[in-house]
Amino acid sequence: MKHLLKMLDLSTDEIIDILNLADQLKYEQKHGIAHRLLEGKTLGCIFQKASTRTRVSFEVGMYQLGGYPMFLSSNDLQIGRGEPVEDTARVLSRYLDGIMIRTYKQQEVEDLARFGTIPVINGLTDFSHPCQILADLMTIREYKGRLDGLKLCFVGDGNNMMNSLIVGGLKVGMKVAVACPEGYEPDSRVLDFAAEVGGFELYRDPRGAARGADVVITDVWASMGMEADAAKRREAFASFKVDSEVMEYAKSDAIVQHCLPAHKDEEISSSVFEAHSAEIFEEAENRLHAQKAVLVKLLSK
Ligand code: CP
Ligand code: NVA
Repeated sequence: MKHLLKMLDLSTDEIIDILNLADQLKYEQKHGIAHRLLEGKTLGCIFQKASTRTRVSFEVGMYQLGGYPMFLSSNDLQIGRGEPVEDTARVLSRYLDGIMIRTYKQQEVEDLARFGTIPVINGLTDFSHPCQILADLMTIREYKGRLDGLKLCFVGDGNNMMNSLIVGGLKVGMKVAVACPEGYEPDSRVLDFAAEVGGFELYRDPRGAARGADVVITDVWASMGMEADAAKRREAFASFKVDSEVMEYAKSDAIVQHCLPAHKDEEISSSVFEAHSAEIFEEAENRLHAQKAVLVKLLSK
């Protein structure tokens, strides 16, 4: 593994390896065992969109591993004024040991990796959010003791989260069922992958997708960059929320995941959110551990 660009690129073994290392790093951190595996390494963190979890967990993760995280806002970089990605990639490769980037187009992340000579980590694009999915899989395994054979349900928009959870879930042997309104389906590359491997179902009713689920996941109806569409989306998604009625269809011990930030009483009812807050905030914490594992795998060579 040279980069972390999208879940489609990872093999099942690579995913499980990252999760195993993440578990180990979490355990060791909780027991006061420090690792300075990235001493002297610098990670550039480019943000073209807002972030709480991704920014803080990457900065803290690099610091804990003995490296240095450099926050790079696109408002200040020349890339924000039109300097080509291929030039930015070639320049940054001469200073940094790795790049984490949060942006709009997946192609920009792919181009950074293609033109640069250092590892690139996707910190979220409109297409994909692989760091989040690794933290989600880590959390699900922590709660359920396994991944293979579980049923994952996602209710909501066919966005970066749905795209990446379908691929990540299927790759680790889960059954994946999603519910979304017409016109808000996941990306066709993801649907093609799902059709090829099997174990995937798409519903127009959240109750169908939630039936027998071990884990129920949702995300905002309007992702970053889609704010202008929010009113239209509120209408389209009105019946695509995770509430106690939908949870009735899931297994009685089902866990809930939400990548956060949550719009409570839109995509998830406040009562379901609070009833499952332990799992949801463990998921947020696991961003740190999962990303430390990714950083070690990519940067410590
Ligand atoms: N879940 C997630 O990526 O959160 P941030 O947008 O706060 O980074
Ligand atoms: N789908 C959301 C995820 C935020 C972490 C977005 O892209 O805004």
